Amino acid sequence: MVKDEYTLVLVKPDGVKTRHIGDIITRIERKGYTIEALKMIIPTEEKLRQHYADKVDKPFFPELLEYMTEGPIVGIVVSGTNVVQAIHNMAGATNPGEAEWGTIRGDYGREWPDGNLRNIIHTSDTVESANHEIGIWFPEFDIEQARKAHLND
Ligand code: PPS
Repeated sequence: MVKDEYTLVLVKPDGVKTRHIGDIITRIERKGYTIEALKMIIPTEEKLRQHYADKVDKPFFPELLEYMTEGPIVGIVVSGTNVVQAIHNMAGATNPGEAEWGTIRGDYGREWPDGNLRNIIHTSDTVESANHEIGIWFPEFDIEQARKAHLND
């Protein structure tokens, strides 16, 4: 039996402000993946430090923290076969100026003269990090329970 995967999408503050929530949801559903949970979140520094735990010592971390607290974000849990890599590919390269057209970052992002990185969306990069990140933003979401609900049948 093929086991569905679960992944986390965060629409970042710039993605919310520029009104890309609907498009992101449409792309996910049009491709046949399932929205399992969805909510608007005011991210706290504490949650962001958990989410980006392996980045807190990077020189860009203060900038990343400032960026991610500029406004509300939208958290989305998505399920489907091999969904983690598929959704990560849909986001495109980290730097929007290098992202392929057709990806979220390639279609809506660009490099700005101020040098600030604004890349619209976060997506989990492995099944392990997806499970971890879902636990941070959706502690109430139980993956095993969701599997039993068979939303993908
Ligand atoms: S690294 O050094 O390879 O681990 O970093 P990278 O994978 O490229 O990026 C890790 C996450 O940090 C975000 N990032 C930034 N945000 C704001 N400003 C700056 N300067 C910056 N540099 C990196 C990057 O988008 C990654 O976050 P996610 O949410 O995964 O996109």
